[in-house]
Amino acid sequence: MTVAEAVRQRISTRAFLPTPITRGDLADLLATAQRSPSGGNLQPWKVIAVAGEEKDKIIAMAQRVLAADPMGGIPGDRPVYPDLKAIDPIYDARRRRVGEMMYDKIGIPKEDRAGRMMWFANNYRFFGAPIGLFLIIDKRMGHGQWAHMGMYMQTIALLAEERGWGTCMQECWARLRVELHDHFGLDENHMLYAGMALGVPDPNEPVNDLYAERAPLGEVVEFRGF
Ligand SMILES: Cc1cc2nc3c(=O)[nH]c(=O)nc-3n(C[C@H](O)[C@H](O)[C@H](O)COP(=O)(O)O)c2cc1C
Repeated sequence: MTVAEAVRQRISTRAFLPTPITRGDLADLLATAQRSPSGGNLQPWKVIAVAGEEKDKIIAMAQRVLAADPMGGIPGDRPVYPDLKAIDPIYDARRRRVGEMMYDKIGIPKEDRAGRMMWFANNYRFFGAPIGLFLIIDKRMGHGQWAHMGMYMQTIALLAEERGWGTCMQECWARLRVELHDHFGLDENHMLYAGMALGVPDPNEPVNDLYAERAPLGEVVEFRGF
């Protein structure tokens, strides 16, 4: 598989087979992902990988928290999105568009808000993936290091493609930032950024046919001096 093939083929996988992935295979992938670049080679990422009973405990905790407060927001000062009403409307339009495409694929209409919410809750079961990764960052890091964390996550996702695995990055886990901080016993300087589901994609689930659109090149690139 070429790098371009991996990039084109990667999608957010939202349904997984129960096929296990060994600790050794995951460690091998993560060892390669360590080659991700970061400014000053700070490598500002930490990962907690969960599987088996540990993953089940986290899923159970998520069910408890969400049952108590299904509409709760993301705690803290790092919201998942900026105020999308206050900036160029193109961003909110893109967010809405991919949401509509996804719920079209799985056949839950807009009016069925409860159905959409219930489906979204699959996030908190890692969409059935055998492995969940939690990405942790030192809160004192700046915006640059958050960007480098993103490069690291994309590296993991592309390496997963090469192995026939799939991933879904999951900022939704920020909703449980406080509970997971306690659960993992993180110190006061560290915070959970996001999760990532990782496993073998289920080829028969329509949601995995979603190939999200991208803006045309002219919308994002300016060529000057050519
Ligand atoms: C950092 C990050 C967090 C994300 N969080 C979630 C999430 O919580 N749940 C989800 O279903 N998708 C999540 N996504 C997936 C995006 O919706 C997806 O990347 C985007 O719509 C483009 O689709 P594609 O990944 O299939 O190309 C996240 C993506 C990124 C990069």
